[in-house]
Amino acid sequence: MNLFLTTTLLILVTISTTLLPHNAYGAKCDPDDESGLLAFKSGIKSDPTSMLKSWIPGTNCCTWVGVGCLDNKRVTSLSLTGDTENPKSFLSGTISPSLSKLKFLDGIYLINLLKISGPFPDFLFKLPNLKYIYIENNTLSGPIPQNIGSMNQLEAFSLQENKFTGPIPSSISALTKLTQLKLGNNFLTGTIPVSLKNLTNLTYLSLQGNQLSGNIPDIFTSLKNLIILQLSHNKFSGNIPLSISSLYPTLRYLELGHNSLSGKIPDFLGKFKALDTLDLSKNQFKGTVPKSFANLTKIFNLDLSDNFLVDPFPVMNVKGIESLDLSRNMFHLKEIPKWVATSPIIYSLKLAHCGIKMKLDDWKPLETFFYDYIDLSGNEISGSAVGLLNKTEYLIEFRGSENLLKFDLESLKFGNRLKYLGFVT
Ligand SMILES: *[C@@H]1O[C@H](CO)[C@@H](O)[C@H](O)[C@H]1NC(C)=O
Ligand SMILES: *[C@@H]1O[C@H](CO)[C@@H](O)[C@H](O)[C@H]1NC(C)=O
Ligand SMILES: *[C@@H]1O[C@H](CO)[C@@H](O)[C@H](O)[C@H]1NC(C)=O
Ligand SMILES: *[C@@H]1O[C@H](CO)[C@@H](O)[C@H](O)[C@H]1NC(C)=O
Ligand SMILES: *[C@@H]1O[C@H](CO)[C@@H](O)[C@H](O)[C@H]1NC(C)=O
Repeated sequence: MNLFLTTTLLILVTISTTLLPHNAYGAKCDPDDESGLLAFKSGIKSDPTSMLKSWIPGTNCCTWVGVGCLDNKRVTSLSLTGDTENPKSFLSGTISPSLSKLKFLDGIYLINLLKISGPFPDFLFKLPNLKYIYIENNTLSGPIPQNIGSMNQLEAFSLQENKFTGPIPSSISALTKLTQLKLGNNFLTGTIPVSLKNLTNLTYLSLQGNQLSGNIPDIFTSLKNLIILQLSHNKFSGNIPLSISSLYPTLRYLELGHNSLSGKIPDFLGKFKALDTLDLSKNQFKGTVPKSFANLTKIFNLDLSDNFLVDPFPVMNVKGIESLDLSRNMFHLKEIPKWVATSPIIYSLKLAHCGIKMKLDDWKPLETFFYDYIDLSGNEISGSAVGLLNKTEYLIEFRGSENLLKFDLESLKFGNRLKYLGFVT
């Protein structure tokens, strides 16, 4: 072809793609991508809120809701999120394997679609550019494939809130680029593979809400980047492993509640200067809470409820606690701790069965405005609750039963969010 002809053709092509209306002759995504996406759409049996209504054959699939492209041509991301506020917002059906035609896909995000079912989508193994998998809050089931480790280009892998069963495959340790691994709220069984220690770039590890058991393995020395560690609501037993102490500079969320962990709460937790949330509730921890907790100045949420912890409780130097639950241990706190009363931001205070013997009228919290939940049941608190309740505009729940409290209902001003008021003695 001579130069003149080539140039003319190029100009013509340019004119046709810039001047003509898009839907008529304009940019079209790659035909493989279009047919892959349309196959996905036909795998969807019900779409009550018409999430996929823009997915019309013959139109540029790069303009469809949830579809992201490179250069308006190749599909690189598929991202559909249900609206949790709207009960009709869901998709039911299965994930078509024809999505494997989307050769440039680097992220698949199918979140809160609730009724997408079927096994783990094996076609994902055929997508060499895939870096991010977030298939969350759906109804997928069956095992996580044994050979998951072969997707070693993955940087984030989340199957949280599905119905996956069976063990966490040990090959997962080959996914060394992962920064997020979220398998929480499934029905996974077995132990945490020790080989997870290979995932040195992890910042977010969430395995909560499964049926995992055995000891929490001592794998954390190499996981120095962890910010969030969620292992609550499983069947773990044994002590808190020593290697967790290596996480003190970075860890912000440590959630180990609702397991069968035992032993003492380790002193080293007091060194966790970035810790925001510590949940050790509903385990079998014994002994005292370490004095070193005085140094947890950044802690906002502390839940030590339902253990066998004893006095004395350390005086905390926290700037402002948001939520505190020390209920049902073996404490004799005598009064509501001073460092609680001075918190400007507290919304949830639960000190049920904490050996508190005071007159509630003598409790003068700095700020009562944000209180949503107060549980002081099962103590020896006397006096009237009216003064406190009158000052808590937004209270949803007050539990004060099994005390010596008086409620003079006539002088009580009810906040309009109050749903529960318990004061049977
Ligand atoms: C999962 O979906 C349900 C129903 O829409 C919603 O209530 C729940 O908050 C969702 N889970 C998460 C983690 O968003
Ligand atoms: C750990 O990661 C290295 C690469 O960083 C890899 O060679 C090795 O096979 C991995 N070990 C396991 C048990 O997966
Ligand atoms: C971990 O992250 C760093 C920084 O992003 C990167 O250079 C390194 O290659 C990653 N490690 C692995 C095993 O992918
Ligand atoms: C708090 O931290 C400081 C500095 O690291 C240390 O000297 C002190 O002993 C700690 N306090 C407690 C009660 O552990
Ligand atoms: C509580 O508020 C009601 C209604 O505003 C008021 O009549 C009552 O005196 C207040 N009681 C106390 C103890 O502040």
